[in-house]
Amino acid sequence: MKIIITKDNIEGGTKAFEIIKTGMKNGAKVLGLATGSSPIPLYSDMVDSDLDFSDMTSINLDEYYGLAPDNDQSYHYFMQHHLFDQKPFKHSYIPNGLAKNIHEEVDHYNKIIEENPIDIQILGIGGNGHIAFNEPGTPFGSLTHEVKLTENTIKANSRFFDNIDDVPRQAICMGIRSIMNSKKIVLLAFGESKQDAIKAMIEGPVTEEVPASILQDHPDVTIICDEVAAAKL
Ligand code: GLP
Repeated sequence: MKIIITKDNIEGGTKAFEIIKTGMKNGAKVLGLATGSSPIPLYSDMVDSDLDFSDMTSINLDEYYGLAPDNDQSYHYFMQHHLFDQKPFKHSYIPNGLAKNIHEEVDHYNKIIEENPIDIQILGIGGNGHIAFNEPGTPFGSLTHEVKLTENTIKANSRFFDNIDDVPRQAICMGIRSIMNSKKIVLLAFGESKQDAIKAMIEGPVTEEVPASILQDHPDVTIICDEVAAAKL
């Protein structure tokens, strides 16, 4: 694992952007993208750049089940707003939160990931060590699956909703094995709430109780965090 400690999230976004730029120069065609506050500075660097993504494919990690794409809390909406409206990709895939048949949507998404191997995967991390919505206890061998969100995550994500009851209880999420199949992984984490997760991910045992700890076994991972998030290392 390569660890880059930055002053703040803005500098962290710039470091991640440099990795993407170099990756694209070297032929990267498929980006795995994440939502949450951590990648926002990266997306704003991408928007402000003169890079062209119209020949590229993006695959997002997850989506709430039950939210329409135009719901302002959906991950579709987030991606449109922060990146795709300004910088369209040739193809952008995000799980369909309104799929009638969730099992069919899961199979369909797995096919998309199989057909478009991810060159660079951007990740955030939950305070409990989750990656995407892969909560503690998710098998390391998992592919895309339906997720029941933990109380912990529902509470953490309720800050974006008017009311905690509005937070969906389910999501569709890329599995840990699919994430691990990406050629390169860049994980972003900022702030005090990530201190324990960062320590467990980097220094703790590789265990399904800390989903991000599996990244220790990946050959090309860069962790970008600020001094505060890295304080317990
Ligand atoms: C959500 C997302 C994760 C994200 C996490 C942390 O649970 N599904 O992909 O990593 O939040 O978000 P933030 O970057 O806002 O701390």
